[in-house]
Amino acid sequence: MNEPLRPEGFQGYHRVGNAREDAELTHVGPGTPCGEYLRRYWQPVAMSEELADLPVVVRVLGEDLVLFRDRSGRPGLLHRHCAHRGASLEYGIVAERGIICCYHGWHYDIDGTILRAGSEPADSPICRNVVQGAYPVHEHDDLLFAYLGPPEDRPPFPVFDSERMPDTARKPFAITTPCNWLQVYENTQDPIHVLHLHARSSGVQFGAASGIDQVIEYQDTPLGMMNVQTRQVGEHVWVRTVDSILPNANQTGAIWEEAEAPKAFRRCAILRWMVPVDDTATRTIGWRFFSPRLDPRGQDDPTLVGRESIDFVGQTEDERPYEERQRQPGDYEAQVSQRPIAIHALEHRASSDAGVARLRRLLRRRIRELAAGERIRQPDACGLDAVPTYCQDTVFRWRGADRPTAEDLRAAGRCVAGAVLGSDRLHPQRREAHVREAAERFAA
Ligand code: FES
Ligand SMILES: [Fe+2]
Repeated sequence: MNEPLRPEGFQGYHRVGNAREDAELTHVGPGTPCGEYLRRYWQPVAMSEELADLPVVVRVLGEDLVLFRDRSGRPGLLHRHCAHRGASLEYGIVAERGIICCYHGWHYDIDGTILRAGSEPADSPICRNVVQGAYPVHEHDDLLFAYLGPPEDRPPFPVFDSERMPDTARKPFAITTPCNWLQVYENTQDPIHVLHLHARSSGVQFGAASGIDQVIEYQDTPLGMMNVQTRQVGEHVWVRTVDSILPNANQTGAIWEEAEAPKAFRRCAILRWMVPVDDTATRTIGWRFFSPRLDPRGQDDPTLVGRESIDFVGQTEDERPYEERQRQPGDYEAQVSQRPIAIHALEHRASSDAGVARLRRLLRRRIRELAAGERIRQPDACGLDAVPTYCQDTVFRWRGADRPTAEDLRAAGRCVAGAVLGSDRLHPQRREAHVREAAERFAA
């Protein structure tokens, strides 16, 4: 057979360009299209344990802020620089109610209104005319969420069904990655990297079964999209769905899944938000879930889950020496090295990037809908006690005489994904039964 025709090599000189990043999807500061979009949703900004008696400087969506808990226990999130003459409120005195700027004693409530303007008279017009920038904070299961959008558009705080898994413990974590948020987020709709980065380039980093080649498809969900990964593992077929909850949340199944026993609609090990610090840094904040159902071999390690740390490899810079990270790179190395902001115009996307392309398209559509004045879509509990989501693992025994073909695996994936999507108005227990029955019908 003839070698395929290739372009001429040694073309470095001709490949130096000045292409720019895709600002519409990557710039997040105030007034940017993507920044406006992300500001319409509750975003986690810290773990509760990061907030002791002193105020904490946080940077979110390119804004410098100060997070504190007043002495009556209420969390507050104010613009960092005092409305008087700009001293940072990180040096403020936390009060019974709100915080007092160290410099001239202006006293702010958690909503930014002035309770007393230092030495000005108590009835000073300053108290009526000046307000410090402030955002509402909602504390929920050891995470502090903030809403940075226009007050009149503040949505109800969403609780997701994965948070209601029975007999499941959870622990918060927060991990900083020095690159644009989209690189971290779109990684979750790039399932082919699990095979290359996490099983071949670096040896097996997660469950061995996740290193088996899979059939991948993508589907929209009411919350965004999901990928459907279907593999043959020994005598079983394993269908994993991984969902992206727009604009920037993601759920992922059991880290060490080996698909060695039948199961249906087994839920997720992680719920996390990729929150932009600014255009070139991201803080992934969320919960790691623990239960024997998700981790039958006891490979999880909750003691490693917390501030800048999680219990699987390759997520931070500090956890390993540079040489080891070069020899066995993980998500951190891959994502950060795509440049501070990946430049889409320089990419040569392939068929395996269909999920990334789809996620970018979805985000761009929503960003433009918002800019055009359309109503923003918020997660909807549909009358249930939590918002239904779509991440799960289903494993069933393959009964065919021969190995499943790629077409068989695709059909299995579609069957399970259809049952997952079609059962989202059911109570979680009935939903599990619904998915199990669909998988069993398919297998029979
Ligand atoms: S700068 Fe804050 S009170 Fe003067
Ligand atoms: Fe990964």
